[in-house]
Amino acid sequence: KESRGHVSVVLLGATGDLAKKYLWEGLFHLYLDQVSSGHSFTFHGAALTAHEPGQRLMFEVLKKLACPSDVSPDRCAVVKDQFLKLSRYHQLKTSENYTVLNREIETLLQQEGLEEAGRIFYFSVPPFAYAEIARHINGSCRPRPGAWLRVVLEKPFGHDLKSAQQLAIELRTFFQEEEMYRVDHYLGKQAVAHILPFRDQNRQFLDPIWNRHHVERVEIVLKETLDAKGRTSFYEQYGVIRDVLQNHLTEVLLYLAMELPANISSAEEVLRRKLQTFKSLQGPESTSAVLGQYQAYASQVREELQKAPDYVSTTPTFAGVLIQLGSLRWEGVPFLLTSGKALDERVGYVHVLFKNRAYCTQRESLREAGQSQCGAKQIVFYIGHGELSCPAVLISRNLFKPIMPEGSWKEVSDRPQLRLFGLPLSDYYVYSPVKEREAYSVLISSIFHGRKDSFITTENLLASWEFWTPLLDSLTQQVPRLYPGGLENQHLLDFEMVGRELSFTLEEPVELLHTDGQ
Ligand code: BG6
Repeated sequence: KESRGHVSVVLLGATGDLAKKYLWEGLFHLYLDQVSSGHSFTFHGAALTAHEPGQRLMFEVLKKLACPSDVSPDRCAVVKDQFLKLSRYHQLKTSENYTVLNREIETLLQQEGLEEAGRIFYFSVPPFAYAEIARHINGSCRPRPGAWLRVVLEKPFGHDLKSAQQLAIELRTFFQEEEMYRVDHYLGKQAVAHILPFRDQNRQFLDPIWNRHHVERVEIVLKETLDAKGRTSFYEQYGVIRDVLQNHLTEVLLYLAMELPANISSAEEVLRRKLQTFKSLQGPESTSAVLGQYQAYASQVREELQKAPDYVSTTPTFAGVLIQLGSLRWEGVPFLLTSGKALDERVGYVHVLFKNRAYCTQRESLREAGQSQCGAKQIVFYIGHGELSCPAVLISRNLFKPIMPEGSWKEVSDRPQLRLFGLPLSDYYVYSPVKEREAYSVLISSIFHGRKDSFITTENLLASWEFWTPLLDSLTQQVPRLYPGGLENQHLLDFEMVGRELSFTLEEPVELLHTDGQ
């Protein structure tokens, strides 16, 4: 087998939550996919913890790695064994520690006579640690000339435009733009990753209707049942808009609203079009947003952050924001971004609702369905959320029968847990991925292949903060409404839109948050 070079993967924060939950699994899947590719690998887990306890913790996680359902248990067991042998733990604290890591990689390359393909450094650490780690990597762990370096960064990438710019400047002193992979894990979710291919493959159907003449509104929703307990030190500074709207939901909006490039496999083209779309987003005003806070939040903050009994938090844990685009295609079409914690259900979706007069592009399918006129027409990208991902794409039968990539998406007749928006399942063509993959596994594979369009470039990041920061500033004056949390919140999404203004339609059980702490 011809050697295609050695890849060293360094996972910083190897014993942290994200690593335990998703990253080691993603790396293992990468190895499973690439074990016969001719590349050789080593996996270096790193953390601040001393060698012995750190190693023990890390291997506890590795030993429990599960096999994907499409790989035979026998093959999986063999590959897992190899994966464990190729993995090691390092305490990375001082500059000396980084020099030792580099020496170890170099020694292996020399002893085995391996060409170096590249190095991946995955930063699964808080951003305040970025600059220091970046300095060490740049100073003593760069790969040999000709080999690539890819550093992977996790959000939050700043708190507003100014802090994001500051972080970008710091990182730029150590890394080139093409070396940085900023993760937004929503871009690895299969239903989100399929929005552009879906639009591309169905151009013949969508070209006439993917616009303001035919689209009534677009909803991008992430409803969570979990609250912020245990995370309030983070959440109190960020709130729901910074936590998920500025990044995950905005990225989904861009995929829906951007002009399609001629060639969607060109990462450069996709990134350029995304960036152009930011220019057409019309800065939302504070009246285009509704904010809420679940009732128990303030006491959780007081307890976890040891605040005084009269401390009142105005951090929103729920937000609905109306965004409009100034482009010819989308002018006047509301894009509603909504997310909240402690809600009645756990779900993530994109709902594109067409106007009733949007014509049926496939008369045959209409006849097949026994309908005489076009009823509700909608396309749903069911993203899922958390472990309950259940990705799916649903298209009203009276719109068109879509072209879906054979081998990766299959038509299904049943899919539990889907939201149906008033139509029976039989009124939709429903598709789900042949092979369900975790977002992080998808993204780790993209990093390995150097595909940059599933990541956030510096320009993209700053454009997003430029858009959101004025709204966030103006919202500091807006007091969130209290909501009880849990099942009682099924109506929280009932806000009314008049022109560009949003307001809650329900007075009960939502009420104003008492800023005097009463
Ligand atoms: C994270 C946010 O980025 O995304 C969390 O910090 C949120 O607050 C999570 O719960 C949602 O992701 P998923 O994959 O569970 O839908």
